[in-house]
Amino acid sequence: MTSASAMEKTLDRDAIDRLFEGSHTTNAFTAEPVDLSLIQQVYEDLRWAPTAFNAQPLRLSVLTDGPRRDAVIEHMMKGNQDKTKAAPLTLVAAYTADWHEHLPTLQPQREGARERFADAEKMREDVGKQSALIQVGYLITALRAHGLEVGPMTGLKASAFDEELHAENGWKTLVAINVGHAADAEDASAVGERAGRLEFAEASQIL
Ligand SMILES: Cc1cc2nc3c(=O)[nH]c(=O)nc-3n(C[C@H](O)[C@H](O)[C@H](O)COP(=O)(O)O)c2cc1C
Repeated sequence: MTSASAMEKTLDRDAIDRLFEGSHTTNAFTAEPVDLSLIQQVYEDLRWAPTAFNAQPLRLSVLTDGPRRDAVIEHMMKGNQDKTKAAPLTLVAAYTADWHEHLPTLQPQREGARERFADAEKMREDVGKQSALIQVGYLITALRAHGLEVGPMTGLKASAFDEELHAENGWKTLVAINVGHAADAEDASAVGERAGRLEFAEASQIL
């Protein structure tokens, strides 16, 4: 039985559906632009969700229509190109292995942590990639929470994205996400057929 305190904190069913079953991966959006202040608000919400060492290694490039986005579209799988060209906004989610540089702010209670992590390059890389991917999940959920629709894509050449977008900061591309407002319900290209989902018993074991 759900405890009284958990019940008090539970979102209402409509809000939960908006984040999960009620939302679809979206391939086509209306022409309405996405306000950049909304993307900033999305980030300001997702940043509170947990990451290892509070590293917050997710880094975002916000691409509106223009030459920088055209350049990366060339490095996407064919099936991802046209829908990205047509999307009002594309986020490129990456990670940084230099997250330790922010430790004096992110973990002020751990004195000297930045210096200790400086030599642990492989570990910083692993933590950076793992926690940034977890943050990508928070990002998708936060975008939906703010009323936007998303089309995430890993069908792309990450190293070529890095050359185009991250030559100066060394970030490493993980996922591109088209973002926009939901297309009209009659637009059959907007969402695919709803595919199956695993049942709890298929995806878990109770030990
Ligand atoms: C990490 C990730 C990578 C994906 N890559 C692609 C992609 O490259 N191209 C594409 O068309 N869809 C891509 N998708 C979309 C998935 O196929 C889609 O989210 C999934 O089938 C569920 O669809 P639904 O939300 O319509 O039920 C990706 C989704 C995620 C989360």
